[in-house]
Amino acid sequence: MQLRCSDSACGQVLKRDYSAFSCPECGELLEISCNGFRPDAGMLRQLWSERRRSNDPLDRSGVWRFREFLPEYNREDVVTLQEGNTPLLSADRSAPYAGLTKLQFKHLGWNPTGSFKDLGMTVAITEARSRGAKVVACASTGNTAASMAAYAARAGIRARVYLPKGRLSRAKVAQSLDYGAEIVEIDGNFDQALSSMMSKQNSGEYFLNSINPFRIEGQKTVMFELMEQLDWRSSDYVVVPGGNLGNSSAFGKALKELRSAGLIDRVPRMVIVQAAGANPFVRTVAAGARALTTVANPSTCASAISIGSPRSWRKALSALSFTDGLALDVSDEEILAAKAVIGRDGIGCEPASATTLAGIKRLRQDGKMQADAHVVAVLTGHVLKDPDIILKVHDDLTAAKVEQ
Ligand code: F0G
Repeated sequence: MQLRCSDSACGQVLKRDYSAFSCPECGELLEISCNGFRPDAGMLRQLWSERRRSNDPLDRSGVWRFREFLPEYNREDVVTLQEGNTPLLSADRSAPYAGLTKLQFKHLGWNPTGSFKDLGMTVAITEARSRGAKVVACASTGNTAASMAAYAARAGIRARVYLPKGRLSRAKVAQSLDYGAEIVEIDGNFDQALSSMMSKQNSGEYFLNSINPFRIEGQKTVMFELMEQLDWRSSDYVVVPGGNLGNSSAFGKALKELRSAGLIDRVPRMVIVQAAGANPFVRTVAAGARALTTVANPSTCASAISIGSPRSWRKALSALSFTDGLALDVSDEEILAAKAVIGRDGIGCEPASATTLAGIKRLRQDGKMQADAHVVAVLTGHVLKDPDIILKVHDDLTAAKVEQ
C-alpha cells in the first residue's frame, strides 16, 4: 500500500503518515494505491462469502470483510460499528415511475448513523487512532459530522465539527450532539466552513473530510458489496448523488480495482446527479472540464449536497471517463417528487438521495437511458435524517387542499 498523488501524470509517492492532503509537487488530492496487488479473484470471492457466516467483528463489517483491498491495521486497532451489509432492494413503484423495468436501490442510509459516511469513517478513524490523533475535525452538511462524532466517540478521540449555521437538518445536528461532538457554527455555506477549517494550520486537528484518502478507501467497499450482491455481474448503470464528490470518486476507484483484479469483467456506467441549484460538476463537465466551474451561492432543498466547490471533482471526472458516465442535474421539485415515490416503496430516504431517482426519470424522458437497462440507484441517507422537509411538504399539501 502506498500513499501517492492521484494524478497519474505526477505519481508522487509520499510517506504513509504524510499529514497534508494534497500533493506537494502538483497540488492534486492524494490516494491510496495498492499497485502490484494481483489477487486470485475466485479465492477472494469465496473468502468474502465465507466471512459472511463468521462472528468475528471484522468479518461482520461490510467494510473490513473486504480488507484485502484496504490499508492494513492491527485488528485490535480497528474502530468498527459493523457498518455496511446494506440491502439491495427492489423498487416496485419507483421503477415504473422512472420508466424502467429493472431498478434496484442500494440503501446506504441503513448504516449505523444513517448515512453512507460510516463506510469511510471506520477506516479514517482507525487511521486517526493509529496516528495518535487527539482531535478529529470535519466541515459538514451534517452526515459526515454525525458519522465522525460516533466513530470518534468509539475511539475515545475528541470530535470537532464545523457546520454551516442554519443550513442543515436539525436532526443531523442533534445526532452530532448526542455522540458528544463539539460544534463550531460557521456563518456561511459548506464551502466556507471547509475553507475556514482548513485554514486553521497546525491546530492539531486531523481532518476527516473526503479529501482524506483513507475515507475514500472505506467508501470504496460499497461497490465490492454491490457487485457481490449482483453475483459479480455488473448492472448497466450505477447512479449516485454528487456533492463534494468523494463518494463518486470512491466508486470510480473501486470499479477500476475490481476490474483490474478480474472480479468483474465489465463496469457499470456511473451517473452523477446534482441539484440544479448546486451543480458545479455538471457545469464543469458541460464546459469541457479543464477547470472547476464553481457555484458561489449553492441553494437546494437537498441540504446535504448544497456545495458549490467540490474538492474531489478531478477524481470524479476520472470516474466518469473510466465508466463512460454521465452527469446531470435535477430541480428541487423533481427531487421532492422522486423522494415521495421512494417513500411509497416503503423505503424512504433523505432529499439528496432522491436525486438519483429524479435523474433516472429525466434520462429516460430524454432518451438517454434504455427502458430495459439494469440500474442500481445508491441511496445515501435515511428518511429520518431530514424530518423537517417531509413535514413542510405535507403541511404545504394540506394548505393547498384547504384553499381549493
Ligand atoms: N448524499 C448525502 C445524504 C450526503 O450527506 C452527501 C454528502 C452526499 C450525498 C454527497 O456525497 O459529497 O461524497 O459527493 N454529505 C457531506 C456531509 C458533504 O458533510 O455530510 P459526496
